[in-house]
Amino acid sequence: MTPEQKKDAYKRAVSVIKANDRGSYTIPTKGLYPFQWNWDSCFTALGQAHFDPARAWTEIETLFAHQWDDGMVPHIVFHVYDDGYFPGPTVWNTGREIATSGITQPPVAGYAVARLFDLSPDKNSVARRARPLIDKITRWHRWFHSARDPAGEGLVAIIHPWESGRDNSIDWDTAFERVPTEGVEPYRRRDTDHADPEQRPTKAQYDRYLWLVQHFRALGWDNSRLHDASPFRVVDPGFNAILIRSCGEVARLARQLGETAIAEENEALAEKGLAALERLWSAEHGQYLGLDRVTGKLIDSLSIGGLMPVFAPIPLHRAAAIAGRIAEMGEKVRYLVPSHDPAAAGFDARRYWRGPVWLVVNYLIADGLRRAGREAMAEKVIESGLELIFSSGFAEYYDPTDGTACGGGQFTWTAATVLEFIDSK
Ligand code: DGY
Repeated sequence: MTPEQKKDAYKRAVSVIKANDRGSYTIPTKGLYPFQWNWDSCFTALGQAHFDPARAWTEIETLFAHQWDDGMVPHIVFHVYDDGYFPGPTVWNTGREIATSGITQPPVAGYAVARLFDLSPDKNSVARRARPLIDKITRWHRWFHSARDPAGEGLVAIIHPWESGRDNSIDWDTAFERVPTEGVEPYRRRDTDHADPEQRPTKAQYDRYLWLVQHFRALGWDNSRLHDASPFRVVDPGFNAILIRSCGEVARLARQLGETAIAEENEALAEKGLAALERLWSAEHGQYLGLDRVTGKLIDSLSIGGLMPVFAPIPLHRAAAIAGRIAEMGEKVRYLVPSHDPAAAGFDARRYWRGPVWLVVNYLIADGLRRAGREAMAEKVIESGLELIFSSGFAEYYDPTDGTACGGGQFTWTAATVLEFIDSK
């Protein structure tokens, strides 16, 4: 990309984010996702930090205003009425004054808050906003380790594919077979009104998504029961890496703010998680794998979830192996990083998380590669992302073989990522 093209992309990215701004929160895109999503919002704040830092803090504060009493931070906050999305508040029925979903999403907030703090030239004034947030984020991190790791193994499980953010990854296919579909109430999907059904999860997957929601709802969204009661309990290396990194970043920020107890608690969680992550390494594949907590077996599926751990401070030789895996995939597709290995069975270049490139994942991977000294591969991953937005606009995700824009358009987190790529400080 030339400097002129970068300038133009920067301007377009800012206008995408502003168009999706609803005052105190930002929607991912019009139509398909009309509310506030958890990890989307944290990436959004990273983008806003480049042109409106005060607004960036508000984005995360709004999300945490809806934290549950037990510490969980929901994956959707239904700020307004909009029946263009399914499943809406009445399906979740979590009994909150302002409706939320009842499951969570990858904990990017700790990383995001530390990044906002680092980017700010005026530490004293932002410390005022950072302090309450790191307290709340620590409660969320603590919740993960109690509610989603009741046996104290060091890694947390997701109990619904939507929690991973990688809804229909091939990683979940086998474990998902255990989820029944009997008794699912009749429903009409709305996502396929806004996006090409060929690029979205299937009806069979939606039936199971819904079965799990109904099951958890029948248990009163009581997080002391949901983990053990879920037939779907999977330890996702990508998800855990984000948690580990966020714990580490919150600890670092807490030290700067003199919040020793918060720092120590997060350091301990990061250390425990990082040690346990080793269990997910596959020497055979040169990447991490998911773990099915119900069967206790590793999941033989070569997805991006097994490369995302580079975002955590993993051993350098593991980061080198991950850079090697990305290089291998780069020989098969034009754009990095495909969400599933193009050489593996089931790869589907346009279907959501079964093959397409997602720029936020490129962001996490590039950041991790850089920290591990893999600068050249980090640059390639970033360049791929910028080429994609240049050729295909700010899409939700992209076909890694030809760059076709997929899913929703004018997508907030894609735009936010681009601002970080172009204006990284
Ligand atoms: C969706 O509706 O597709 C979301 O990913 C679930 O949060």
